[in-house]
Parts: sequence; C-alpha cells; structure tokens
Amino acid sequence: MLLEGRVAVITGAGSGIGREIARTFAREGARIVGVDRSADALADLVAELARNGSEGALVRVGDVRDAASVDAAAESVVTEAGRIDILVNCAGIREIKNVYDITPEEWRAVMDINVNGLFYWCQAAARRMRESGGGTIVNLASVGGLIGLSNRPAYSASKHAVVGLTKSLSRDLAPAGIRVNALCPGVIRTAMTEAYWADERFENELASVVPLGRSGTADDVAQAALYLAGPQSAYVTGIALTVDGGWLAEKSFAVPGGSSTFSTSNDAS
Ligand SMILES: NC(=O)c1ccc[n+]([C@@H]2O[C@H](COP(=O)([O-])OP(=O)(O)OC[C@H]3O[C@@H](n4cnc5c(N)ncnc54)[C@H](O)[C@@H]3O)[C@@H](O)[C@H]2O)c1
Repeated sequence: MLLEGRVAVITGAGSGIGREIARTFAREGARIVGVDRSADALADLVAELARNGSEGALVRVGDVRDAASVDAAAESVVTEAGRIDILVNCAGIREIKNVYDITPEEWRAVMDINVNGLFYWCQAAARRMRESGGGTIVNLASVGGLIGLSNRPAYSASKHAVVGLTKSLSRDLAPAGIRVNALCPGVIRTAMTEAYWADERFENELASVVPLGRSGTADDVAQAALYLAGPQSAYVTGIALTVDGGWLAEKSFAVPGGSSTFSTSNDAS
C-alpha cells in the first residue's frame, strides 16, 4: 500500500472530490482525518470507511476560514494521531456570477474559503510537518487557475491564487522536506457541478471539446492526488497538474470549407 501508516488530513472530505480522496487514501493504508463544516457528512464518511475496514479515522468539524481553529485542529491531530504527513486542501466553493452583478460578500466568501482557508491549513500543517521531518501538500486548484473562466471572476481569481501560492510554498517548504503541488481538474461531476447535467445535452457538448471525450470523475482526481501525495512523486514539487481529459491542451474553432475544426497545433491545414 502506498500510504501505509501515513496520517492524511483532507479538508472538504464530506463531499465530492475530498470524499473520494479519503476513500482512496484509506484503501492505500492512510489514517484519514476528515475536515469539513458538515458534521453529518463527516460522520457518514467515517461510518463508510469503517464498513470498508479502515478504523481510526478522525474528524474535525470546522470552517477553514477560522485561522485560530484551523491551527488548533492541526495541533489536536498531532496530539491524537502523532503527526501530519499529508494535507489535501479540497474545501472550496464556486460562484457563477458575472462581473457586473457579483456582490462584495460573494467575492469575499470565495476568496476567504478558496484562498485564505486553504492557506491557513497549509501553514498549520507545514508547522507540524517541519517538526516531524517532512510531508506532502496537495492543493485543489482548477483549470480556472490556469485560464480565465467566464462568469466565474472570483472563482478564477481564487484558483490562480492557489496555483501561485503552491509554487511559492514549494520553494519555501522544500528545505523542510515538504512537497507542495496543485491539481487543476476540469469538469468533474460532484455536488458542486451536478446542476450542469440538468440539461441533458451537457455531457455531449462537453465531450465534444474534451479530447478524451467525457466529463471527469472524482476518482480521476483522487488517483492524481494519490500520485502527488505519495512516494511515487518524490521528485515533484511546485507543479499544477491538469486532470481535464486534455481540455486545456486543445483549442479549436470551425472553419468553412475544410475540416470542421482548425487546430492551433501544426497539423492544421
Ligand atoms: N467539481 C469540479 O468540477 C471541480 C473542478 C475543479 C476544481 N474543483 C475543486 O475541487 C474542490 C472540491 O470540489 P467538489 O467538486 O468536491 O465540491 P463539493 O461541493 O462536492 O465539496 C466541497 C466540500 O467542501 C466543504 N466546504 C466548503 N466550504 C467549507 C468551509 N468554509 N470550511 C470547511 N469545509 C467547507 C463542503 O462542506 C463540501 O463537503 C474545490 O476546491 C473545487 O473548487 C472542483
């Protein structure tokens, strides 16, 4: 098992990608510490892990925006589990609101959770990892951290911040043996995006612009998180790894009289 005996803190573990990462890391032998603001979702996760043979999972119910409680939670994990080896920052929200209408409160909520809260957990975990000789941090950014997504000004800005923070921390934490990487998923079907599928044409339309021809699953992201959190990425730090079916690699548009798409790569004719 790739994470045997490792203590893995996962924020946003109550739902979607975070929950799938908890399942995957538990199967690989990690002791899971689920962090979320939903106590019910965490209780459900712990029960599921126990049913599947992973005993001893811990939970910390709380809001990542509260820096003091984040630091206290990290300290209590060390008291109870001995150390923090892995941090995966999945807690996040997304607004779909155009630049004219987004309110200051909505803007601040996205920044507070996606950037500030993520930083508080990086800082709290890094302090403990330095003490215990190292660790790995995986931050959930998004393809919206690499390109500007329309109608998501706060979300795109927040995810660009996550990518920048990841690169900065990778430099500063390397001497302590701590690797820091970001994941940039494309469209993954979770509670956050479920409404997209209300339109039955959505999956086909998405598939037509994603080279691998489908939306992503939480498991697609969990497998990439396992790589970045575990020993197989021992020489990898400071990257933003896309998990998007090739979506960002392709840019096409229709041209009259020729092939239906004109690729920006050299095979265009
Ligand atoms: N689903 C996608 O298509 C997609 C794509 C790219 C990136 N991401 C990113 O992946 C991460 C996980 O997304 P998801 O799709 O699993 O979403 P989700 O809504 O299913 O899960 C998010 C979890 O975060 C928790 N959370 C939110 N705010 C919190 C707070 N202030 N404190 C503590 N917990 C909080 C929620 O309770 C929930 O359990 C997010 O950062 C998201 O931006 C998702």
